[in-house]
Amino acid sequence: MKKFKAYLKHFTPPIFRPNYFIEIYNRVFNKDKILHHFEYEKNFFKRHAFINLAISKFKNCKYLEIGVDDNDVFNSIPLSMNDKYGVDPKKGGNFKMTSDDFFKKNPQIKFDVIFIDGLHEYEQCQKDCLNSIKQLNEDGIILFHDFLPRSIYEENVPRKQSSWTGDVWKVAVELANSKNAQFKIINIDMGIGVLKIKTNFEYKRMKELKNKSFKEYLNYKNNLPVISAQEGIAFILDK
Ligand SMILES: C[S@@+](CC[C@H](N)C(=O)[O-])C[C@H]1O[C@@H](n2cnc3c(N)ncnc32)[C@H](O)[C@@H]1O
Repeated sequence: MKKFKAYLKHFTPPIFRPNYFIEIYNRVFNKDKILHHFEYEKNFFKRHAFINLAISKFKNCKYLEIGVDDNDVFNSIPLSMNDKYGVDPKKGGNFKMTSDDFFKKNPQIKFDVIFIDGLHEYEQCQKDCLNSIKQLNEDGIILFHDFLPRSIYEENVPRKQSSWTGDVWKVAVELANSKNAQFKIINIDMGIGVLKIKTNFEYKRMKELKNKSFKEYLNYKNNLPVISAQEGIAFILDK
């Protein structure tokens, strides 16, 4: 059945493919919802560069990726397979399970670098963040994808289009307000959060964020610690 579907794809005109159809439909009928309210810095970096830079800081780095999909980032990680853990219940990586299950089954493993890019919904991302912090080695670094949505549909939960950050920006607001955290968001590739924890870190839960929408996010965004790629490099390297 899988093979048949793969063959069928080659004979289906693009307009009959669900994702393509939705993109065209939105371009015609939902122009205001797909309108970008800002753009990322134009340069030659993607998330892979910053994750690998963080990894390069550690001698025997242990890396965890939550949400792996096509292994796009995971395959770029230059570590032995004993030291890279990719968790995804659907596809990619080497642990086929949810992040909740992974943390429950492996509470003893500590990581130096963790990339959180699983389910793009506020509460799940918050859980992934708190569980990751518990299993982070001293001086470890946590990176996040998708902290800077540009349009209503990019942010909307449930998902409305293929380019999607969901509402994980709410975790970014909480981290920006947390005590004893060094936290920045690099303004590239949907927004890359970088978190370093200091002693006596206290996560700031902000229940009022739960029902906030894209419009309100634009106000919160003014106070987020958004930095350039160059500043991101310096931040990761403690320069
Ligand atoms: C955006 S993709 C990850 C892309 C990948 N990190 C990269 O940069 O190339 C999100 C992935 O999260 C996975 N996912 C969804 N719910 C999850 C969960 N509860 N735990 C872990 N992964 C989850 C999905 O199956 C999907 O493959």
